[in-house]
Amino acid sequence: MDTDRLLQQLTDFLRIPSVSTLPAHSVDCRAAAEWVAAELRRLGCREVQFLASGTHPVVWGVGPEVPGAPTLLLYGHYDVQPPDPLDEWTTPPFQPSVRDGRLFARGAADDKGQVFCLLKAIEAAGRPPVNFRFLIEGEEEYGSRVLFDLLRREPERTRADAVLIADMAYVAPGWPAVYTGLRGLCYAEITVRSAKSDLHSGEFGGAAPNAHEELLRLLGRLKGPDGKINIPGLYAAVKRPTRTELTTWRGLPFSETQFLKQRVQAKALAGLKQYSVLERLWALPTFEIHGVLGGFTGEGAKTVIPAEATAKVSLRLVPNQKLKTVERQLAAAVKRLAPRHVQASVRFLHGADPAVVPVDHPVFRLLDRAFREVVGRGTVAVRAGGSIPVVPALGKSGAPVVLTGIGLPDDRLHAPNEKLDLKQLWDGIKVFRRFYELLGAKA
Ligand code: BES
Ligand code: MN
Ligand code: MN
Repeated sequence: MDTDRLLQQLTDFLRIPSVSTLPAHSVDCRAAAEWVAAELRRLGCREVQFLASGTHPVVWGVGPEVPGAPTLLLYGHYDVQPPDPLDEWTTPPFQPSVRDGRLFARGAADDKGQVFCLLKAIEAAGRPPVNFRFLIEGEEEYGSRVLFDLLRREPERTRADAVLIADMAYVAPGWPAVYTGLRGLCYAEITVRSAKSDLHSGEFGGAAPNAHEELLRLLGRLKGPDGKINIPGLYAAVKRPTRTELTTWRGLPFSETQFLKQRVQAKALAGLKQYSVLERLWALPTFEIHGVLGGFTGEGAKTVIPAEATAKVSLRLVPNQKLKTVERQLAAAVKRLAPRHVQASVRFLHGADPAVVPVDHPVFRLLDRAFREVVGRGTVAVRAGGSIPVVPALGKSGAPVVLTGIGLPDDRLHAPNEKLDLKQLWDGIKVFRRFYELLGAKA
C-alpha cells in the first residue's frame, strides 16, 4: 500500500469544509461531492450522477458490471458537522495534520476517512468480482431529507445483495463491531415568547415576564435532575434489550469508571442510575439541550428583559419508538408544561426512526472473517447510541445492512480535535478489501 499517496489523497478530501447544516458551505459540499465523483470515475464507474440536487447532491455510482457477481451497495456521507468551538482545536479542523500516528481533522472518522477506506479497498482488491453501487450523500448530518425523498421515489436504487456502511467505530481498541441497532432522533426548536418586544429591565424588571426564565423553567420540567424525561407516554413504547444483549454487553471491555474518567472527562455521569451506562447509551431515549438563543449574548452588558427565547433540543429514540409519535408527544408536553401567560411553540427540524438491524445473514460471517484475518478478532454485535437516518430505508428492500466501522471510541466525533488513528485507516482498507474478495468468491 502506498500510504504516503493515500494519506495525501485523504488530506485533500478532508481539507474541504463540507458542513452541510451551514448554507455558507454549500459550495464546499458541492466540492466534496465532486471529489467523491472523481474517485468513483477512477474506480471505473460507468455511471456517476448527482441526484436530488437543490441542496447537497447525493452521489450515485454504478461500478463495472460483473455478470453473475453479487451486488454490494456502499453507503456513506461526505458532509461533516460544524467545527466550532474553533479555539479548542490544536490544529485547525480543515488543515489535516498527523500527530502520534493520528490524523486530526473534522471528518477524519465521521465519515470521510471511512468512505475513503471503502473506496480505496476496491482499488486494493484489484477490482474484485462484485457489482458495486455507491450512494454517498451530503446531508447525513442534517437529517438526510433529500435522500429519504429520493429513496421513496426510487426504491430500486437500494436493490442489492447487501448494503455496507462504515460510519461507526470498534467498541474498544482491538474489538471490531457490527451494529444491531441505532437510535433515532427528533430534533426540534422550542420557542417561548413572553411579551410583544424586549423591555428595559429597570423599568419593567420585577413585574414583566422574562422569556429566558420561562424557557429555562420549561426545559427544567421536561427532564428532571434524576434524568427522567417528563414527556407523557414517551417511555411506553420502549423495548428492553434482550437477555442475550445484556449478557453480551456485560462481557464487553467497557468500564463505567474509565468511561467517565477517560472519555466523558467530567466529575460524574448523568442519567437514569438504575440502568447500566451501556443501556442508557444504547437502549434508552434521551433529551438534550444543544443551545439556547435569544436575549443579549454579545460582549459587554445590556440590561434587557428578552421577549423571546429559543432552545435547540433533541431526543434520541430507541426501539420501538416512532418519530411521528414522539413529535406529537413533545409538542403536547411543551403545551402542557408552559405557563398560560407565554406563547410556546415547537418547530421540528429533522429526525429519524430508530433502526433495528438483524445480523444473522451469511454476509455477516464474511465481515467477521475479514476482521479476524486482518486484526485478529472477529466482530462483536452491539448497538450504537448515534443515528444514521436512512438506515431503516436502506433495509426496506430486504438486503442485509452491514453496519460497521473502523474508528475508535475516542475519535471525538462532532467535537474539537476529531481524529482517526492511521493504523485503523490502513487496517480498515485491508479489512474491506478482504471482505470484497470473500464476497466476490461467492459468485
Ligand atoms: N456516524 C454518525 C452516527 C454514529 C456515531 C453512529 C457514533 C454510531 C456511533 C453520524 O454521522 C451522525 O452523527 N449522525 C447524526 C444524525 C443526525 C444529525 C440526524 C447523529 O447521530 O447525531
Ligand atoms: Mn457519520
Ligand atoms: Mn456525524
